Amino acid sequence: MNDVIIVIGASGGIGRELVKQLSEKHTDTPVYALSRKSQSADVASNVICVNMRTDDEKAIDDFCRRLDENNEKVRTAISTVGILHGEVDGHNIEPEKRLEDIYNDQLLRYFHVNSVVPTLWLKHLVDRMSDNTSQIVCFSARVGSISDNQLGGWYGYRASKAALNMLLKTAAVEYGRRAKSTTLLSYHPGTVDTRLSEPFQRNVKPEKLFSPAFTVSQLLSVLPDLSAEQSPYFLDWDHKVVTW
Ligand SMILES: NC(=O)c1ccc[n+]([C@@H]2O[C@H](COP(=O)([O-])OP(=O)(O)OC[C@H]3O[C@@H](n4cnc5c(N)ncnc54)[C@H](OP(=O)(O)O)[C@@H]3O)[C@@H](O)[C@H]2O)c1
Repeated sequence: MNDVIIVIGASGGIGRELVKQLSEKHTDTPVYALSRKSQSADVASNVICVNMRTDDEKAIDDFCRRLDENNEKVRTAISTVGILHGEVDGHNIEPEKRLEDIYNDQLLRYFHVNSVVPTLWLKHLVDRMSDNTSQIVCFSARVGSISDNQLGGWYGYRASKAALNMLLKTAAVEYGRRAKSTTLLSYHPGTVDTRLSEPFQRNVKPEKLFSPAFTVSQLLSVLPDLSAEQSPYFLDWDHKVVTW
């Protein structure tokens, strides 16, 4: 069996940087860069770009079956999948400021992308994780912390990240039985200078607006310190615990 690394959502601001740093750090390990968009050919030789519907269960299943056929097991899988605003499937998504801004379709889209899609990956990866130390990281957000919610607003984004955290925490119980060497991590990257945060950067102090390179290197540096016995974790970019 050969170990591989997977980045799910490889074309976004953080996803691209993950592929870059992971492929540089693990030059002997294949890094699958999965994206709905076609990606640039300008990648390291151990990167395998796969253009696929990362949000479609049949496509997820097909990809995982190919891992089996290749005798590949997953050492690290990282999902960056998430939406906050912008056009999604022809609909304009805007974070809600007040109750009157809540709409059925928009809420469902937040939940589908932010909670359901990463969880489908948790479902299909459970029997494909390496017997060596391994991790699955889902990009969450501090606003998904129920105990930390003082500000309100952003109903759909907050609730869908809180749901993601609960789904990951629930899956961790089963992973503890079925994939004993795997750690699950919900990660808050801080405010990172990407398309996702761009409309909301005005009130962020310059020193608190992180580059993708910074938050990714902070994430990769904490992975070796995590233990499957203590899984799941909810950590921020500074390696501090975020309360659920
Ligand atoms: N930037 C921040 O300040 C910040 C703060 C807190 C948390 N986060 C979280 O960090 C993660 C990465 O965000 P980013 O800043 O890199 O944003 P981004 O540049 O907008 O990237 C978003 C990623 O989500 C994937 N995605 C979007 N819609 C999808 C869908 N319908 N189905 C499947 N995948 C979809 C995209 O994958 P494709 O490659 O397939 O397009 C893309 O890689 C998100 O989960 C976000 O919530 C970001």
